[in-house]
Amino acid sequence: MRIDFLTLFPEIALAPLSESIMKRAQAAGIVEIHAHNLRDWAANKHRKTDDTLCGGGPGMLLKPEPLFAAIEELRGADTKVILLTPQGTVFRQQMARDFANEKHLLFVCGHYEGVDHRVIEELVDVELSIGDYVLTNGAIAAVVVADAVVRLLPGALGDEMSSVEESFRDANLLEAPAYTKPAEFRGLRVPDVLLSGHHEKIQRWHKEQARLRTQKNRPDLWAKFCKEHDAD
Ligand code: ADE
Repeated sequence: MRIDFLTLFPEIALAPLSESIMKRAQAAGIVEIHAHNLRDWAANKHRKTDDTLCGGGPGMLLKPEPLFAAIEELRGADTKVILLTPQGTVFRQQMARDFANEKHLLFVCGHYEGVDHRVIEELVDVELSIGDYVLTNGAIAAVVVADAVVRLLPGALGDEMSSVEESFRDANLLEAPAYTKPAEFRGLRVPDVLLSGHHEKIQRWHKEQARLRTQKNRPDLWAKFCKEHDAD
């Protein structure tokens, strides 16, 4: 897979992907990552990429000319063009799985108040948000999406099973609490069942705890889970 970032801050996109698993995935040729500075496509004297809003309003928007020039140069026949914006569809694991099947992702990273809407109408395949909050720029969001996609590519994780197992898990259920050794720390004990060696009981405990945790932390997911399983 190839991933390109189009941003005013290429280093924000590259730095988090140059360590650990993402670094190894690139070294192993599983993914090729490039970041481009939008300013390089600004034809005007001051390399200006933003302008004020038509019709008035606060803030600045990214201008269409450099974005059109850059996207038209960077995209190919197999490219999925993804704009990061708080106005987008909220990113979920299933989308990461879908994107992992693409050959080429081009992340267009918004800044200021966003991008001229003609860019979205003509060039963008997916408008994507990573959640209901506003970041200072889309490169931070694009890195989150890229990480979630790359770790699903075959060979990217050392232990191949870790992402395979995940895809069989219920998408509407969080994972159960997990413990490692020692069995007792500052008087806090690992639940006895996890030390019992009783496989069936352990599985039942995981299931029950996953449900309790989802109920407590994610009532939205819990409602979906109940609807799908007729549980309560
Ligand atoms: N740019 C600013 N905030 C964002 C968000 N929540 N998701 C994607 N891009 C963004």
